[in-house]
Amino acid sequence: MLAVRNLQAGYGAAQVLFDISFEIGRGEVVTLLGRNGMGKTTTVRSIMGLLRPKAGEVRFEESLLSGLPPYRIAQHGIGLVPEGRQVFPTLTVEENLAATAANRKGTGRWTLPEVYALFPRLHERRGNLGSQLSGGEQQMLAIGRALMTNPRLVILDEATEGLAPLIRAEIWSCLKHLKDEGHAILVIDKNVDALLPLADRHVIIEKGRSVWSGSSAELAGDPSLKDRFLHV
Ligand SMILES: Nc1ncnc2c1ncn2[C@@H]1O[C@H](COP(=O)(O)OP(=O)(O)OP(=O)(O)O)[C@@H](O)[C@H]1O
Ligand SMILES: [Mg+2]
Repeated sequence: MLAVRNLQAGYGAAQVLFDISFEIGRGEVVTLLGRNGMGKTTTVRSIMGLLRPKAGEVRFEESLLSGLPPYRIAQHGIGLVPEGRQVFPTLTVEENLAATAANRKGTGRWTLPEVYALFPRLHERRGNLGSQLSGGEQQMLAIGRALMTNPRLVILDEATEGLAPLIRAEIWSCLKHLKDEGHAILVIDKNVDALLPLADRHVIIEKGRSVWSGSSAELAGDPSLKDRFLHV
């Protein structure tokens, strides 16, 4: 479904990604792992067109995405829940959701009532401003906004950062629900162990290179991987 091949990217003269390659199959959950500053967010920004790759390519369902502007990439069916939530603080919950829906083509699976069914708390808070939400509620809103574009692939960059364990578990069960419905998911998260049951495959990034890829069983079965690539 998504194929990233030999991707290189950076900021100005500073190259950050040197060789990133991985694939996501239809309906698969794949994690992008690696220590702080290794290039996970930069990879996501390159996939979404927020950063123009220097070399390599990104294909989604056979369309070449590299070089397209972000709104066109979103229209192809990729929804991003960006690092740091980034909800509109001066718009209400409902306005935040409607603002994203306006960008999409036609109708599809996700509408306001369906996002509210997934996150009843957003329905309760629908008249509140983005700035008045708790961290967990902001994260739910960020996920709801991504879903309103009716993505076939959802990318979550540190969606559970700073959340209490109970709220984090709610986000995991939401992802399980999306997976059961056939959505493909790319997830970046520090809680690797919580992702083992959910994820089909994992990709480890080290200094801008994809250095390892394997199943949850392979990752869990080789503690040296965690020591080498994941522990700080
Ligand atoms: N806007 C920017 N301008 C210049 N350098 C940047 C910019 N954003 C990130 N970098 C640098 O690029 C490198 C990779 O950053 P990136 O955000 O992709 O890492 P990450 O793997 O997502 O880390 P984390 O786990 O901390 O979120 C880091 O060295 C970072 O300092
Ligand atoms: Mg990051």
